[in-house]
Amino acid sequence: MKISIIGTGYVGLVTGTCFAEVGHHVICVDNNEDKVKMLRAGGIPIYEPGLEDMVRKNVAAGRLTFTTSTAEGVQKSDVIFIAVPTPPQPDGSVDLSYIEKVARDIAAAITSYKIVVDKSTVPVKTGEKVAETIKRYCPAKAEFDVVSNPEFLREGFAVGDLMKPDRIVIGTRSQRPVAAMKEIYQPFQAPIIVTDINSAELIKHAANSFLALKISYINAIANVCEAAGANVQEVANGIGLDDRIGRRFLNAGIGFGGSCFPKDLSAFIKIAEQIGYDFKLLKEVQNINANQMERFVKKITDTLWVLKDKKIGVLGLAFKQNTDDVRSSPAIDLCHRLLKDGASLRVHDPKAMEKAKSLLPGVTYVEDMNEVAQGCDALVIATEWDEFKQLDLDRAKKGLTHPILFDGRNLFDPAEMEKRGWIYKSIGR
Ligand code: UDX
Ligand code: UDX
Repeated sequence: MKISIIGTGYVGLVTGTCFAEVGHHVICVDNNEDKVKMLRAGGIPIYEPGLEDMVRKNVAAGRLTFTTSTAEGVQKSDVIFIAVPTPPQPDGSVDLSYIEKVARDIAAAITSYKIVVDKSTVPVKTGEKVAETIKRYCPAKAEFDVVSNPEFLREGFAVGDLMKPDRIVIGTRSQRPVAAMKEIYQPFQAPIIVTDINSAELIKHAANSFLALKISYINAIANVCEAAGANVQEVANGIGLDDRIGRRFLNAGIGFGGSCFPKDLSAFIKIAEQIGYDFKLLKEVQNINANQMERFVKKITDTLWVLKDKKIGVLGLAFKQNTDDVRSSPAIDLCHRLLKDGASLRVHDPKAMEKAKSLLPGVTYVEDMNEVAQGCDALVIATEWDEFKQLDLDRAKKGLTHPILFDGRNLFDPAEMEKRGWIYKSIGR
């Protein structure tokens, strides 16, 4: 198939590359000239395991190209995917101006039948608006179909999620685009669900909200565990073995972040409100998440008392492991909280330090994780990187003025840490 992807960010670049990997011809379009230049020169603007090699291989094979011209992408392909940002507005609703602009650009360029697929996460009924817009702004009056095909990839595991998806959702008003959509996805061998457009759009928000709810649920259980003297990891294992519940997304911590869950929750609450439903359950999911960070900060201040003039080492800046993404990162929020209370920080992240620098000036970036503790009053773990489990604890202990570790991601065993002489505070244990 000949495919173009408009918006070459996390979602667009990984999707386009995986389509090329299975043999489709893909043009990635982005309005950021520097990004396109970099990709053409063999560079990758994001860190995503496995992506760089796959991009290189498919560029060399002539199946993956990059351009800044939407018209070129549209004219040279049969199916056009939209993967531009849908950022939140101050009231929680979604800014759809990028989508609307892309719809007009597509309209201006189409002269024959095209399938326009929305991959960006959008409020229910956006597909209808995109179709209306293309129809209104298309001088050639060309035929087209709009399809909703939400993306479920997780950053850090994006290539794997794309190559081996749990399911493919195709939301459409007519049967005409179904065969082409199935042809695109056939190599991925996943169950395909064909729905109406509104249902497909809702599936994405309903799925992400449910996963966020699962995390807030286990965080609430963690708080009960703390009060009751129980261990949240044992509880998570015990309930997770029931396959109706499942163990995944039951890791208690300092709360969820990233560019999806917080934004999608606010958007879904807002969308429900606009169509007349007060989604109180999801509001509580947000409250628990915000409260989780406050509880963690309180743990730190209960132990260190006054933070002014204290030096704290922070391990982790990315919003989760295996990514360099710091958008809506709980780790960055935590750093801001500690700085506000007057602490000075030594920080480290295996991949996210470059991206953190503009959000987090005035802290010391440390290249070696084992050096972070040097001269600090306490150490904090804010992101669940596997690497941190290999921390040289004896060296960290020597570097600290007191052996205090606040573990916001439950990476170590509390009994073992106590045995080794640490004052160790984690979540729900
Ligand atoms: C974005 C949305 O945030 C998400 O809701 C949606 O599901 C998919 O797209 P992501 O890929 O993570 O997610 O965003 P980002 O990495 O910011 O990439 C968007 C790309 O679109 C950027 O490269 C940007 O330069 C480009 N872009 C933006 C355009 O090409 N045209 C535009 O009009 C706006
Ligand atoms: C999420 C969805 O998982 C994905 O399907 C969707 O397409 C986009 O949004 P992503 O934001 O990349 O993906 O990351 P995810 O792995 O879901 O983690 C989100 C946040 O939840 C992170 O801050 C992570 O630390 C936190 N989390 C996750 C927990 O606190 N506990 C868990 O058990 C799992």
